[in-house]
Amino acid sequence: MSKATDELFKNVISHAKEYGFVFQSSEIYDGLSAVYDYGQNGSELKNNIKTYWWKAMVQMHENIVGIDAAIFMHPTTWKASGHVDGFSDPMIDNKDSKKRYRADQLLEDRIAKYENEGKTDKAAALQTAMDDALKAEDLSRLKELIIEQEIACPVSGTRNWTDVRQFNLMFSTQVGAIADESDTIYLRPETAQGIFVNYLNVQKSGRMKIPFGIAQIGKAFRNEVIARQFIIRMREFEQMEMQFFVRPGTQKEWFNQWKEARLKWHLALGTAPEKYRYHEHTKLAHYADAAYDIEYNFPFGFKEVEGIHSRTDFDLSQHQQYSGKKMQYFDPEVDPETGKPFGNYIPYVIETSIGLDRMFLLTLINAYEEEDLSTDEKQDSRTVLRLPPVLAPVKAAIFPLTKKDGLPEKAREIMDKLKLDFNVQYEEKDAIGKRYRRQDAIGTPFCITVDHQTLEDNTVTIRYRDTMQQERVATDQLEKIIGDMVSW
Ligand code: GAP
Repeated sequence: MSKATDELFKNVISHAKEYGFVFQSSEIYDGLSAVYDYGQNGSELKNNIKTYWWKAMVQMHENIVGIDAAIFMHPTTWKASGHVDGFSDPMIDNKDSKKRYRADQLLEDRIAKYENEGKTDKAAALQTAMDDALKAEDLSRLKELIIEQEIACPVSGTRNWTDVRQFNLMFSTQVGAIADESDTIYLRPETAQGIFVNYLNVQKSGRMKIPFGIAQIGKAFRNEVIARQFIIRMREFEQMEMQFFVRPGTQKEWFNQWKEARLKWHLALGTAPEKYRYHEHTKLAHYADAAYDIEYNFPFGFKEVEGIHSRTDFDLSQHQQYSGKKMQYFDPEVDPETGKPFGNYIPYVIETSIGLDRMFLLTLINAYEEEDLSTDEKQDSRTVLRLPPVLAPVKAAIFPLTKKDGLPEKAREIMDKLKLDFNVQYEEKDAIGKRYRRQDAIGTPFCITVDHQTLEDNTVTIRYRDTMQQERVATDQLEKIIGDMVSW
């Protein structure tokens, strides 16, 4: 990260705290690593992102419905899904510094360093060597590579590493009063499994026909070995996932369709296209036959925000095997090749899985601007969040110009009307200029000022966040002006 981008990222993090977006969890006890709380503006922004996703996925698709499954699931779920045996990261400890690292992350850091230094051959060679070791699950080779590279070590040149061990990322806890092996349950590491185990319940009760999708937003938990970069890698986070059930043989076509549709969703928020890129997975998860990430260019480089995975029939077949319950769907449609119904089969699944917290951070970073407003006469600046109005925590702020002459009462009267449709705020403290700056800092698209003229002709000044321009409008136009800008 260059000094300027490092500085920018630090500023975004402190802005997020100062303006009630994100706080360290249990801060008064010095925090809990990789766990964060969303404040008054953060929770509004997060809810708006959820609604924006839900409307795009569920409301706009007649063949996609939403569910809300429990975080706790029967422990066999995680045996069947492969998470008990396979959901782990290779971990290594440095004996000198007593620090723990993810072995692949150490190597990735070194690859990024080579790339930054323009040593592309070295980067590519190390990438291949690491991918081969990971594919072969060769932990000793990973250790060899780390020693060879002598990287990320506080004492340059140290080789004092432990062996690489696999570390399962699932959090476990005990159900019931008596702690016993057999009572161990897990906090779900992905929301997807709640959809798989319910797919026939939804299909039958909703009379869904393939292709159809099930969407869900909810918490997931992973005991990440290392926590990094603010809310990018957390131990408790939220996912917005959609599983799309398709006829076997059509998965490629649907995969491509969803890959494109999901990038369009991101771009519809007005983000510059060059900020995004696709990344194709070469090392596939145990359940996938194709996978692409949608990555965003954060100040610390391109990072995954969303994954689109072709999960085959892996999950449903595994659940059929472990539960002994049929997971087949009867497809009454006639196959044009045979002239007979497609009949019984286990559907294939295309999954779109976006991290809500990463989307939140992306939105914040993309919106954040330290704008220089200096003129020949005086120096001036403002920090403004140019959030898409649809996502802004507060849609409009209403200010009486002064605290007397009936202006507060008039301002409250306007607010009471607007609050039926929008999240609005009333502010009467400080000079108007200061109030504008506070609203700019949380991304409020409109500020409405009530003055003495309002009492005479029922007009107000509306000030636009992005241009800072002001105009005089009738109060009965406000709902339409705001509604047009912030509607979904
Ligand atoms: N069901 C598939 C699945 O969970 P994943 O790639 O492991 O796939 C999907 O996770 C998304 O969840 C990622 O693209 C990322 O945005 C988010 N995510 C994963 N681990 C995370 C973590 N520890 N903290 C925050 N977000 C995370």
